Amino acid sequence: MNIITHDIITLKGSDLVQEASKFHTVRGYLLLEQNKKLLTSAMEDYLEMIYRNSLIEDYIRINTISELLNVAAPSTTKMVQKMKALGLLNYEKYGYISLTENGREIGKFLLERHNIVERTLINLGVKENTLIETELIEHNISAETLHKLDLFNKFLEQNPEIIQKFEKFFESF
Ligand code: FE2
Repeated sequence: MNIITHDIITLKGSDLVQEASKFHTVRGYLLLEQNKKLLTSAMEDYLEMIYRNSLIEDYIRINTISELLNVAAPSTTKMVQKMKALGLLNYEKYGYISLTENGREIGKFLLERHNIVERTLINLGVKENTLIETELIEHNISAETLHKLDLFNKFLEQNPEIIQKFEKFFESF
């Protein structure tokens, strides 16, 4: 199944490429943009989690995915089959699931997106439920906003005195 690769080729030279080139995982971003209509938020959650897990082990099984995402095994099986049809996952005999090259690149971008949003919340001084908040925000954020948040985080982290000033400022409210 190679719809994704085909779409990427038709995109070259567009503004999207310029926008995406600001990220390390350029192709992952492009793949995601091109598949927005196909990839639901739930699918993004699966992909992000499977990518996270792929950094530790080569394969994952239905039951492990279900446990990690706290969903029922039949729902996971359905989702994995859909993702396989989209060319994101390999679902081999004996239940071994792994990422395809496209799945890996999109997953890498999704994890990077997650981390940028979470770091922004932490830098803003959000202390409660940063993980849940991140999960709610991350799916609908544009490339430009994400890029600006990334720069904002870097700016704050390079200038810790600004974070301290801001902490004092909001303590006064
Ligand atoms: Fe996430």
